[in-house]
Amino acid sequence: MERVNESKVIGVATPRIDGPAKVTGTAMYSSDHHFPGMLYAWPVGATVASGKVTKLDTAAAEKMTGVLAVYHRGNIGSLYRVPPSEGFGLMIDERRPPFEDDVVSYYGQYVAVVVAQTVEQARAAAERVKVTYDRRDPQLSKKLLGTSSPADKPRESSKRGDVASALKAAAVKVDETYTTPVETHNPIELHASVAVYDGQSYTLYETSQAVVNHRNVLAAMLGVGPEQVRVVTQFLGSGFGGKLWPWPHSVLAAACARNLKRPVKLVVSRQMMFQNVGHRPATEQRIALGAAPDGKLSAVLQDFANHTSLLDDYEEDCGEATPFLYSTANLRVTGSLARRTVGTPTAMRGPGAVPGLFALESAMDELAIKLNIDPVQLRLLNEPTQDESLNLPFSSRHLKECLTTGAEKFGWQQRTPAVGSMQRDGMILGWGVAACSWLAARSDAEASVELRKDGSARVACATQDIGGGTYTVIAQLVSHATGIPVDRVEVVLGDSSLPPGPVSGGSWVTATVTPTVFEASQNAIKALLLSAVKSPDSPFKGKQQGELEFADGAVRLKGNRQSAVSITDLMRATKVNGVSGQAKSAGTFGDPNLKFSFHSYGAQFAEVTWQPEIARLRVSRIVTVIDAGRMLNPRPARNQIEGALMMGVGMALFEETQYDSRVGNPLNNNLADYIMAVHADTPQIDVTFLDYPDYELNALGARGVGEIGLAGIAAAITGAVYHATGVRVRDLPVRIEDLLKPARSRIRSA
Ligand code: MOS
Repeated sequence: MERVNESKVIGVATPRIDGPAKVTGTAMYSSDHHFPGMLYAWPVGATVASGKVTKLDTAAAEKMTGVLAVYHRGNIGSLYRVPPSEGFGLMIDERRPPFEDDVVSYYGQYVAVVVAQTVEQARAAAERVKVTYDRRDPQLSKKLLGTSSPADKPRESSKRGDVASALKAAAVKVDETYTTPVETHNPIELHASVAVYDGQSYTLYETSQAVVNHRNVLAAMLGVGPEQVRVVTQFLGSGFGGKLWPWPHSVLAAACARNLKRPVKLVVSRQMMFQNVGHRPATEQRIALGAAPDGKLSAVLQDFANHTSLLDDYEEDCGEATPFLYSTANLRVTGSLARRTVGTPTAMRGPGAVPGLFALESAMDELAIKLNIDPVQLRLLNEPTQDESLNLPFSSRHLKECLTTGAEKFGWQQRTPAVGSMQRDGMILGWGVAACSWLAARSDAEASVELRKDGSARVACATQDIGGGTYTVIAQLVSHATGIPVDRVEVVLGDSSLPPGPVSGGSWVTATVTPTVFEASQNAIKALLLSAVKSPDSPFKGKQQGELEFADGAVRLKGNRQSAVSITDLMRATKVNGVSGQAKSAGTFGDPNLKFSFHSYGAQFAEVTWQPEIARLRVSRIVTVIDAGRMLNPRPARNQIEGALMMGVGMALFEETQYDSRVGNPLNNNLADYIMAVHADTPQIDVTFLDYPDYELNALGARGVGEIGLAGIAAAITGAVYHATGVRVRDLPVRIEDLLKPARSRIRSA
């Protein structure tokens, strides 16, 4: 693949071009959109987790001030199921259209929706809708492994050698079970839909990480052609995966707008966010490792289960990173689903690999202790030379350097392995380490680039910037390809009517848009040169295109600065307003013919402080080294990793959605009771990017970055907790109660 080595803009720390709009409040988020005659919708959620609606009494609600309609199964009008599709055709997690039948499968499932003049009126009326249920008990058992129904029988996702015999024969073994709880995405921006219907077509302002998919799915559910739906998401107050695919409220808003022929706004409440828009499912994983006394792995077994809903088959692929992370002749990964009365789960930052690596990397730490080998060394010892699951070379893998660089930055050589053996300022220190990995891929994408007579460029692509820096990186790509400065590049994203772009998921937007934006830029330059040689009044009329070049915002004879004519002068002479180029690039995701194993890697080092006298545990320091290809813009890239690490502190110590086992509702369904890491929990964070380009993925060697920062960090923290306290926490999050038992005995024996 062609390589780009030199650049004035690529790799340069560039402030976000959308920053001023955001900090001055002019950026239009989805629920900021307002239209004359707009109405407000408020859904009515089921107050049982399982059962049937036997009666729905809307009379009182309908009589209330400002109420225009109360919709339910009997009067919402036609809504359709999305047909199953291959690949990324039509992505949706809760496939059932709202109000399809009387069956309730989870607490909060929408059973009606009220539309009123104001949001307060809609909400008040929604509370007056009387629903009677034939109630069944919720099923929320946390025991997941071995609880699948016959229809959901375990799926073997990777296998080599004979893992059972190798485990039996292994000199040293770890065989433990790890669990991670339900976690709920809590972006500050609530999910919202503003639906406008003109009698023919819909314009939907959505909180979406994937506007093109959202358009296609909503068209299918509303029973109209995709050309009759336009989805707009100019800015997103983050998503974490919770806004990847459409949720029922979006369908409700569109249906209400259709039925009433007025614009309708529906913003879900924070409580609904815990019920109706996905979550990371609970996982239970058995990991068995076998090793020789010298530390060489002989067996890796991972048996995982995740809960899913009664309605859909969401798999949290905990085995995503296991097959290729370490060298071992014998390996088996098996996954299964356990049905529970919960809303359908969905992708949450680093889906699969994040809970998976918590388990695998915890087990590696336990193995290191049993072997009496340093945990960094253990990982270095088991570095594979190729992807042993695919029998393919790695496109670019520098995990060993992540580990050694991180160890050096962290000061790992000063670590004394005995539990509680390190102290600072009267506190016990714990140090832990984990490796991490996340996939690298490109999806199909198109883009168009226009060069305009004022010397600026406009680039359009129906991808989104969900806060990660996509606007800025795309401006840098166009700037690199055309020589037009970043601040003269207008980036237009987040509109399904633009050339189809990638979903903002999988951390793959950067890798995906690089080839298509480059090619579209080249095509725009070709169009400019064509116009220069063909237009009647061009100073270059009669030359061959091949004799010209575009450099520094001007067309000139190759290598001849004196001949340069600025794009403005040229377009004035030729009476052209702008020229444009389009491009389309094919993806790598799911391609069975790939010649390389594409992944990013990293090493996480964590320090905790532990004060047994007052049972106070803090994460005090994190050193992270990331190998994620070339960094196009180190500024937002660092933000991504720092944010992910903070999410990792929350994953390790705080985050857990708790359900009431009697009613089936998420109990801590608000930002006061759902504990997340905040500023006060922030440790010292040191992020290093190795910056090795992955030229097998694109000409820049850029893989993109984001989710990988959350992978492995929880295991590094629980490893540090063990080092400080002697307590191995295998069930996240770490609870202070978990740590009190040895603290008490330590106090007694003192
Ligand atoms: Mo990310 S969970 O792929 O939005």
